[in-house]
Amino acid sequence: MEVWHISEEQEWKAEDLSRAADILRNDGLVAFPTETVYGLGGNALHQRAVLKIFEAKQRPADNPLIVHIADVSQLHQVMDEETALPEAAKVAMEQFWPGPLTLLLPANSALAEGVHPNLRNVGVRIPRHPAALKLLEAAGCPVAAPSANKSGKPSPTTAADVIEDMDGLIDGVVDGGACSVGLESTVAEIFDDHAVIYRPGHITREVLEDALQIPVVYAENLASSDSGESPQSPGMKYRHYAPEAKVHVWYGDSGRILVEMMKFIDDYNSAEIAVISERDFTGRVKSWKPPEGESYIGALSRELYRLLREFDRQGVRHVLVQGVPNTDMGAALMNRLGKAAEGRVKEV
Ligand code: TXA
Ligand code: MG
Repeated sequence: MEVWHISEEQEWKAEDLSRAADILRNDGLVAFPTETVYGLGGNALHQRAVLKIFEAKQRPADNPLIVHIADVSQLHQVMDEETALPEAAKVAMEQFWPGPLTLLLPANSALAEGVHPNLRNVGVRIPRHPAALKLLEAAGCPVAAPSANKSGKPSPTTAADVIEDMDGLIDGVVDGGACSVGLESTVAEIFDDHAVIYRPGHITREVLEDALQIPVVYAENLASSDSGESPQSPGMKYRHYAPEAKVHVWYGDSGRILVEMMKFIDDYNSAEIAVISERDFTGRVKSWKPPEGESYIGALSRELYRLLREFDRQGVRHVLVQGVPNTDMGAALMNRLGKAAEGRVKEV
């Protein structure tokens, strides 16, 4: 597996990128950084490449892939232009692309079957990371890219994470450093008079509502007239982001959260515990708190997956996490924490 190192200060070596782009065009797999997490890229027009992605990730075949493009001029390659776009969808593209927003759009029939299995729509986004944009531009084809982790593991936020999961299974990885956002993109479908969020992310419900001037709701809060049918965003039904360690989340009153954590530390072998909290636990157990001057939600969103992987490597058995209010940027963080905790989330 080849590794191409790209630093922001240094000029990109054109031949490095053109090699990665060639591999993509010719149905090989290349992982690359985006501002959210690393993606596992393959040519979205070729079923052969798409099948390889599912195989490398061991991903269930009915879970659709997000297609990445470099520019809106490439939209005709991925969406069916016969269907008129709602005005609000155009506003969203203008305001949030490039960026961590995936829009569900009517799919172009040229896309490989496996990209959006049995679904009318395809998820599309223009990522903001300069390495991603240059690679996509050089490749010229739309690139299907789920997060570059093995299914069920936390998403990778560094090239080292990708190598840990994918070494020997893919052709190469573009190393563009650590991802700045750290959680996967917001997945949304925009209609004329409202929008639905299937996966919360860095572009929040509140920010979308403000920008689009239409009501924006979470899919899980919609009255399910079609209950029993497969969910609109199939990926949401799978166990996701779970580390080996058991994750426990408490949210609500910060004094009571502290009491719960201290009780847990007293009851278990403290060598096997790690704490993620605004408070300082150093000296007692392994712990993480936000760097000086940074918000807890922002810093933890960026660091969460890296921490979960690191604690696993250190043999931690229980990760105790201070939860956050389930609004604005907190919604994406609580969504991922909830999945990692597999139900061990408690209000105190
Ligand atoms: O930030 C991100 O979105 C990253 C980077 C690499 O772009 N990608 C990512 O992909 O997180 P993945 O495959 O790990 O998650 C894609 C999510 C899944 O929950 C999937 O079900 C949903 O988006 N999705 C993709 N295409 C869809 C479609 N056509 N209809 C409904 N949901 C879709
Ligand atoms: Mg994923």
